[in-house]
Amino acid sequence: MRDIKLITDNIKGFVSEKDIRFVYKPIKLINEALNKKECPGKDFVGWIDLPSKMPEKLIRDIEQTAKKVRANCDVFLNLGIGGSYLGARAAIEFLKPSFFNESKEEKPKIYFAGHNLSADYLKGLFRVLENKKIIVNVISKSGTTTETAVVFRIIKQYMEQRYGKKNTRNRIIATTDAQKGALKKFAEEEGYKTFVIPDDIGGRFSVLTPVGLLPIAVAGINIRELLKGARDFEKKCNSNSTRKNIAFRYAGIRHILYKQGKIIEMLSGFHPALQYIGEWCKQLYGESEGKSGKGIFPAYCAFTTDLHSLGQLIQEGKRNLFETFIVIDRSKAKFSVPKFKDDVDGLNYLAGRDIEFINKKAYEATAKAHYKGGVPNMTIVIPKRSAYALGQLFYFLEKTISIAGLLDGVNPFNQPGVEAYKKEMFKLLGKPSA
Ligand code: PA5
Repeated sequence: MRDIKLITDNIKGFVSEKDIRFVYKPIKLINEALNKKECPGKDFVGWIDLPSKMPEKLIRDIEQTAKKVRANCDVFLNLGIGGSYLGARAAIEFLKPSFFNESKEEKPKIYFAGHNLSADYLKGLFRVLENKKIIVNVISKSGTTTETAVVFRIIKQYMEQRYGKKNTRNRIIATTDAQKGALKKFAEEEGYKTFVIPDDIGGRFSVLTPVGLLPIAVAGINIRELLKGARDFEKKCNSNSTRKNIAFRYAGIRHILYKQGKIIEMLSGFHPALQYIGEWCKQLYGESEGKSGKGIFPAYCAFTTDLHSLGQLIQEGKRNLFETFIVIDRSKAKFSVPKFKDDVDGLNYLAGRDIEFINKKAYEATAKAHYKGGVPNMTIVIPKRSAYALGQLFYFLEKTISIAGLLDGVNPFNQPGVEAYKKEMFKLLGKPSA
């Protein structure tokens, strides 16, 4: 099995190997502190040894629950936002076939809500819930997040009207804090099946807890493979060997580029299956680094689509960007370009070529053009769309960003700024204690 890798050829002229060696010194110290859980934010680094310490009993509970869910519903509806939503969605969109919810064979359909406050979205959701057997998974560590809590009220009422209060009990699962919060209280009062979000793991680092693992398992994905990938990269990314540790290299290069004024990182994927990986990264990077007037702004670009919209700006706009491509080396499907006798569109030169070959050339060309245009870039290569590779990726990026935040002198494990909009919103909504 091949590992994911990091290609850094297109940083030459921006970052030297000497610069990288220099930044490895503080990175090694940070790595040691992180591994010993002795860094700023140390109460929230439970994710660091999570893959290797995951209790077998919990894995079995998740698998058995997922099996029951798969047998007893047509729709598995997940309610959550931020870290209680993005990891599961990223994994499912990455690993399931495109349009999986549209396919007849696919059961259960997996839907998400509670990550927005749109009435039209809910109306659309209720249309697809009609006449379907539903199981709901509500995920919230605090149990008080407005978006999720409001939508949960609406869904709970709908479920109780459809199934009766008693039968609804077996159709709602709650993933929340072990002791506190409104959702915990609901779960106790109503007798829902619950899963616990560990105290020492923040939302954006929780994909390998039941927050992510239950929906992923319900989608029919092998969570043991996912955890194995993460475990293998836990070993690699926690080692102090600068040669082998791609988290060191990625964090170090990002830091050097940031100090040169490259304040925006474009994460550019060449496959629609990567879109929610991009969304997950935006939260992981943005919430971890963006504080105390510091931080790299993470953006996701869906290529080649966005080459026809953002391409101009990236190529010739303000030179405050660097780019991290995410590519999938081997695609599952093959589609070759047919040969046309008349060659009206002039594409016969590509006849017989696989569309993924063209995609690969598009990536290589983009990396070259952007580099020549003053956008240094790196590439994360994922060998294939497998749970094992995804486990590696999740761990690699969590470790990279933790190192990056600490290198920049911030606590990567808190998110005090997220409260500001909530305070203003509560005032506007007339919340009694606001
Ligand atoms: O990273 C974070 O902590 C946040 O983005 C949360 O994940 C998000 O606000 C959801 O919080 P909760 O799980 O408490 O509903």
